[in-house]
Amino acid sequence: MIFIDACNRKETSYTPIWMMRQAGRYLNEYKEVRAKVGNFLDLCKNVELATEVTLQPIDILDCDAAILFSDILVIPLEMGLELDFIKNEGPKFRQCIRDENDLNILKPMAHKRLDYVYDTISLTRSKLDKKKALIGFCGAPWTLATYMIEGQGSKTYSNCKKMLYTNPKLLHKVLEKLSNELKIYLESQIKAGVNAIMIFDSWAGALEKKSYFEFGFDYINDIAKYIKSKYPNIPIIVFPKGIGGFLYAFNQIEKNFDVFGIDWGIDMQYAKNALGEKFVLQGNLEPCRLYNLNTMEEGIEEIVRIMGNKSGHIFNLGHGMLPDLPRENAIKLVQIVKEKTKR
Ligand code: CP3
Repeated sequence: MIFIDACNRKETSYTPIWMMRQAGRYLNEYKEVRAKVGNFLDLCKNVELATEVTLQPIDILDCDAAILFSDILVIPLEMGLELDFIKNEGPKFRQCIRDENDLNILKPMAHKRLDYVYDTISLTRSKLDKKKALIGFCGAPWTLATYMIEGQGSKTYSNCKKMLYTNPKLLHKVLEKLSNELKIYLESQIKAGVNAIMIFDSWAGALEKKSYFEFGFDYINDIAKYIKSKYPNIPIIVFPKGIGGFLYAFNQIEKNFDVFGIDWGIDMQYAKNALGEKFVLQGNLEPCRLYNLNTMEEGIEEIVRIMGNKSGHIFNLGHGMLPDLPRENAIKLVQIVKEKTKR
């Protein structure tokens, strides 16, 4: 698998590519399947249909890796926090965690109620081309906690930060509960057949450096260490989004994972200088460049010039595909990257 070789910094015949949110509304095929079920969570829980949409970007775009079709929020959901995905508003929890008593809402053993995820993995792996990798994933404890505490997406994260600066012990309790679930959840995904793991910390950038290491990254590192100790051959990708201002600090950390996801806000040359020796870098084309074929080509050119036609890089967007990006350009993106990085 070219993607797994690249995670392990082996020589490959071109730079492998996949895209965050590669299964989604920019594909008509996705919208057709999505229309067959009531809501988004029904799609996540439907093993056949979730498998079908996981495989769509492989058939349509010829990406080198498929990513499990699911959502990071199935963990808080199965911990007992009911959740609705509201059109144009995003996810909303019916209850949220604000004080010590609210911890009682959270039920243990969430990982035991996620068979729909493990079954989707096994079915997908059985149908997926042997040369293509299947990536499993979870949300980082901090990002999951932001949704559980705010109850929805946020601009200021004021409830989470209020907890962080007034009752840090409570926040640590929430993060610890999440970490314990996530370790077994990822382990179960590996047992079901994923070839690599990605940990999404979408709201890492909401915290200052010192708080991020204490409440965000230390938990990711602990999860990665646990998985590495049991499954040393499964590559782990981490994606802390929005931490460009202190990217250099990640050069000092204990290395418990293989690939570092670079978001589109970070200059790739800076990322390469800061972390390129220590980690394989994944990224970081600004997704909106796909609105225009010329700007997309310029963006690819620049990243390939910096990362070179050599090992140490996995091509990806710097964040997820948007629903109205043109599908033709997504198809071209994969073709161009494969051509331009051919060794
Ligand atoms: O193709 C893939 O990348 C695999 C599937 C995937 C989804 N969500 C499907 C999805 C993955 C890896 C995620 C992760 C996820 N979910 C993250 C981390 C990555 C990131 O984007 O930063 C986050 C923060 C979430 C939470 C979430 N889920 C939000 C905020 C939303 C609403 C926004 C939107 O695009 O509508 C979702 C819903 C969601 N997750 C959709 C998809 C395809 C759209 C649902 C629909 O079809 O109506």
